[in-house]
Amino acid sequence: MRNAPSPDANTVIALLTIWLGLGLCACANAGETDRIAELLALEPGIVLADVGAGDGDWAFRLVERVGSSGHVYATEVDDDELDKIRRRIEKDDHGNVTAIKGDQEQTGLEAGCCDAILLRLVYHHFTQPAVMRADLRRALRPGGRLVIVDIVPQRHWRDLPGVPERGGHGIPVEDVIQEMTGDGFDLVAQYDDWNGDDDRYCVVFRLP
Ligand SMILES: C[S@@+](CC[C@H](N)C(=O)[O-])C[C@H]1O[C@@H](n2cnc3c(N)ncnc32)[C@H](O)[C@@H]1O
Repeated sequence: MRNAPSPDANTVIALLTIWLGLGLCACANAGETDRIAELLALEPGIVLADVGAGDGDWAFRLVERVGSSGHVYATEVDDDELDKIRRRIEKDDHGNVTAIKGDQEQTGLEAGCCDAILLRLVYHHFTQPAVMRADLRRALRPGGRLVIVDIVPQRHWRDLPGVPERGGHGIPVEDVIQEMTGDGFDLVAQYDDWNGDDDRYCVVFRLP
């Protein structure tokens, strides 16, 4: 019987690095989930919208925090991402998550339906931010929290067609604050170096 070849030292180091990287990434995401849930003031019964939800990863993390008496609306403009969200709702039987098709002029959310709104890495994708802000205002109940996690402009990332020019892929935090407060949202808190990344930030707003 022949012995299986043992992996060389480089392979072992590469595998350990990947394993450690995945572990660190999972820890960072768990920490960010707690922070976002706290800043959104999530508790059982809350209705949350995750606007620009991607594949729904954050919507499904946060639905745990609003419980069976709460609800999460996951909005997307991309049909492939919406399909992923819908498939997971069905697979995991998430009766309190709803996928909503939006576009660049409306979220698709009902007026006054949300206690809290999350925009994670999506504000800089808006081609008509003023129109979207008006729609977000319409969807959020007075006193509701709106949390924006975003990234300072990255010069070497892909261009996003149709978005306002802001020096790269992303948006300066000053622009987010000026645009949101200019539309009547109150600034509650600002966090730089969000989740240990000095290009990311988080800003918390409240609708008066
Ligand atoms: C960088 S991804 C972020 C996904 C997710 N929020 C996350 O943090 O992992 C941005 C997503 O926003 C979506 N998007 C862009 N403009 C949008 C809009 N006006 N309304 C809803 N979703 C939008 C894109 O299709 C994309 O899936």
